[in-house]
Amino acid sequence: MSETPATEEGASGAEAAIDPAIFSQLLPFDPFDPAFHADPYAVYRKIREQGPVTRTPLGLVVVPGHAEVSAVLRDNRFGWGDGATVAEHFSQAPDGTTVRPFIFMDPPDHTRIRGLVSQAFAARRIDALRTRAGELVDELIEKARAEAGDGPVDLIDAVAHPLPAILLGELLGVPAEQHERFRQLSNDIAHGLDPSIFLTPEEVTRRDSARAELNAYFGTLADERRAAPTGDLISELVAAEDTDGKLSGHELVVTLTLLLSAGFALTVNLVGNGMYALLRNPEQAAWLRAHPEEVPAAVEEMLRYDPPGQMISRVALEDAEVAGVPIAAGEQVMLMIGAASRDPEVYEDPDALLLSRPAGRNLGFGLGVHFCVGAPIARLAAQAAVAKLTALDLELATDEPPRAPYIITRGLKELPVRVAPAG
Ligand code: HEM
Repeated sequence: MSETPATEEGASGAEAAIDPAIFSQLLPFDPFDPAFHADPYAVYRKIREQGPVTRTPLGLVVVPGHAEVSAVLRDNRFGWGDGATVAEHFSQAPDGTTVRPFIFMDPPDHTRIRGLVSQAFAARRIDALRTRAGELVDELIEKARAEAGDGPVDLIDAVAHPLPAILLGELLGVPAEQHERFRQLSNDIAHGLDPSIFLTPEEVTRRDSARAELNAYFGTLADERRAAPTGDLISELVAAEDTDGKLSGHELVVTLTLLLSAGFALTVNLVGNGMYALLRNPEQAAWLRAHPEEVPAAVEEMLRYDPPGQMISRVALEDAEVAGVPIAAGEQVMLMIGAASRDPEVYEDPDALLLSRPAGRNLGFGLGVHFCVGAPIARLAAQAAVAKLTALDLELATDEPPRAPYIITRGLKELPVRVAPAG
């Protein structure tokens, strides 16, 4: 895909040119500067030094500190409101009403759907995947080594990408022969997580048609489970739909598409960013090899050190304040998870990867009512991958692996490594 923005056509492909200068008026950084993607943390440090709240020339309220980000995420005066800024992620039900994924809802609608999903994501369902995740990583590594021969293995393509696609597919009850297609569709949706103005028209089209295809597919799968429940997660959500009309048919479809696509790229990037950090810090890798029981804590530090989700948006639903700075109703707030994760007020030596670091209040999965519902499965997948990959003798095959140029998600396009022969 192109690394340049859609400057010749607007996001819809129809409007006049967007002047790239507008992006640095809107955001507190230049989203198309390769130096920013190489090290956004240096840029975040400067933003943090400007104070707890910065307004960009176009009026976006930027919040980089851990305490302030946490406070906003816990504050019900901030939410999504009418959703104008994310309306491109909504879809139309057959009756013409607009349905938004629950990640973009405010209470009480959010509470209703999130409650049903949390029940269906019961711990027993996730735990059942733990052994499977380890076996799957072994299979993926073996296959990649056989295919690569003496050449390098791309950890993104070989492990980070297929692992969550297969695990999420199995969790949701998607038949195995569909996993590859779902992996492509989740990828297309993930690449469209940035607001459309930052994407090429092709990316916007691919995102929208991938979402439509997934919605249609889940509509069919839900019909099948309605006719013959199997006890899988979809059957459970279908049953919720029947009890007191708690979940409308189209809400169910949109929820399933959200569950498949929301955390897919983020899980890919947690494994990719985490393994890249480890390969760049061989003494930390050696420590982890000597302390395999610390893999869960190591994954939390990887999430802090280079978070796959770099920012969260909110809108002030009423007049409020952040760190004493007044925020007017309707103002849009950008909570910089990447900056908060390196806040020296909370983390000693924040720019160091320190796997033995005491557990802190990690913001990588968010906080408050929207705290990531998929965190247990993302952790399970990343822990399985990190445990198995750390046990191998890996070496970076390139100094600068190529990066995906997005701003909400942060990750590598490829992570080529050399794997020493076994034994
Ligand atoms: C490393 C992987 C992941 C990361 C870093 C991550 C991060 C996040 C963050 C930061 C939020 C909060 C968004 C907000 O407050 O607006 C969130 C919410 C959410 N995540 Fe994840 N996520 C990951 C994996 C997953 C997976 C695997 C799934 C699906 C199974 C998932 C499903 C969701 C959903 C549905 C929400 C919305 C929850 C709500 O609005 O109540 N995530 N995630």
